Amino acid sequence: VKRYQALADDLEASIRKGVLRPGDRLPSVRTASTSRGVSASTVFQAYYLLEARGLVRARERSGYFVTEAARPLPPQPRQISQPAIASVRPEVDDLVFSILEAPVDPADVGLGSAFPTPLLYPFRQLGRALAAGAQDFDPTNVRDGMPPGNAQLLRHITARYHADGVPLGDGEIVVTNGALEALNLCLAALTRPGDSVIIECPSFYGALQSLERRGLQAVQVPTCPTRGIDIDALEVAIRRHKPKAAWLMTTFQNPLGCLMTPDDKRRLVGVLAHHGVPLIEDDVYQELFYGPQRPLPAKAYDEQGIVLHCSSFSKCLAPGYRVGWVAAGRHAAALRRQKLTLSILTAVPVQVGLARYLDQGGYERHLRRLRATLQKQRDAMGEVLCEHFPEGTEATRPQGGYFLWVKLPHGCDTLELHAQAAAHGIRFAPGPMFSATREFRDCLRLNYGREWTPATERAIATLGKLLRRPKLRVA
Ligand SMILES: Cc1ncc(COP(=O)(O)O)c(C=O)c1O
Repeated sequence: VKRYQALADDLEASIRKGVLRPGDRLPSVRTASTSRGVSASTVFQAYYLLEARGLVRARERSGYFVTEAARPLPPQPRQISQPAIASVRPEVDDLVFSILEAPVDPADVGLGSAFPTPLLYPFRQLGRALAAGAQDFDPTNVRDGMPPGNAQLLRHITARYHADGVPLGDGEIVVTNGALEALNLCLAALTRPGDSVIIECPSFYGALQSLERRGLQAVQVPTCPTRGIDIDALEVAIRRHKPKAAWLMTTFQNPLGCLMTPDDKRRLVGVLAHHGVPLIEDDVYQELFYGPQRPLPAKAYDEQGIVLHCSSFSKCLAPGYRVGWVAAGRHAAALRRQKLTLSILTAVPVQVGLARYLDQGGYERHLRRLRATLQKQRDAMGEVLCEHFPEGTEATRPQGGYFLWVKLPHGCDTLELHAQAAAHGIRFAPGPMFSATREFRDCLRLNYGREWTPATERAIATLGKLLRRPKLRVA
């Protein structure tokens, strides 16, 4: 970290803790330079950075002032995870299912769900397009939806890669039943039972379950809550364990929400290509960015066809429709065969219906609204956490998606908290669900994309109260 960044981080921490409040003036450049023992240009750079973060604004000839938008938020966790770089058999199914299958009352506050509220999706327009798609469906021509998929839908998917300048070979995309099928088909094409696969730590529990089902070994690699996987550690893991694939999320990782920088994505692809390890890139949150443009996937830097880029409409447009895809690089032919042997094709009327919705041109407007709502709710969740959770709580501040990763102070036990919260009708995802070795007992994932009501804030306040009980300590 450069000096000016460290200074900006320090000042941001003061703003987030409420030491510096909206309307307060930052010290003059000369004062800050003397008191911090840094050059005036370092102070200027730090103030510019804070301005870019929306936390301060310059007023002509008066200096820099904290903006109204700068709210108290929990500090971000910075500590990189430290799993042993070993090849382990994930055993998460029982834990994950015991949480996912627990009886849920419709009145519960569901902060553990993997989906935002259905109210954020254009189901009425989708329904009309689907009805028309079903009517258009020619049952004598089922081939229309056979792998690689419905031609019109494929054109829409391909156009989004082209718009970003991501190179795609002919026939690279295969339509699947959601991203999860795409990811599992990739595993099937690349691995045999007993092989090792690289994953992040923590990682999406669906990845852990998929490895467990196929009898694969997981190699968990240290991952930073803000920058993503540690590429040096990844290289060590590759040398040591000769993995047959890496299953990674480079954009808005689940559960951390982190986004790798373009340089890190490029380096990641370079390292994997150098060692001949294919990248299964799980990119289901790519459309839910809050910045000015869609972050490029690692696939954008792939010159050798080693990236199998998996995504879907499940999170951004049509939850429950089960339509996803993989852009499988040099493995496309193998993926088409896997798809044919596993499930033949993806329901044709649904493919046709989605293509019709996309033809109508309302998708971008829907996405803009969805992103704006999620960003607003991220900030609201951060504020209520800051108000109600114990001192020492840290939370990520994702630039997209809808998950916050929360690290609790003093070794609080989130499995115990989960059991107690359920009795109050509150659900969340405890940290051990995201680790092959059941670590992260002091962490939890919160979904801020659910309907935001007074009950949401009350639920956070209740969790905060439960956390102050002594029984919740691990040690
Ligand atoms: C990281 C990640 N990958 C894949 C999936 C599955 O996506 P789909 O619903 O399109 O199968 C999910 C859903 O929760 C997810 O969070």
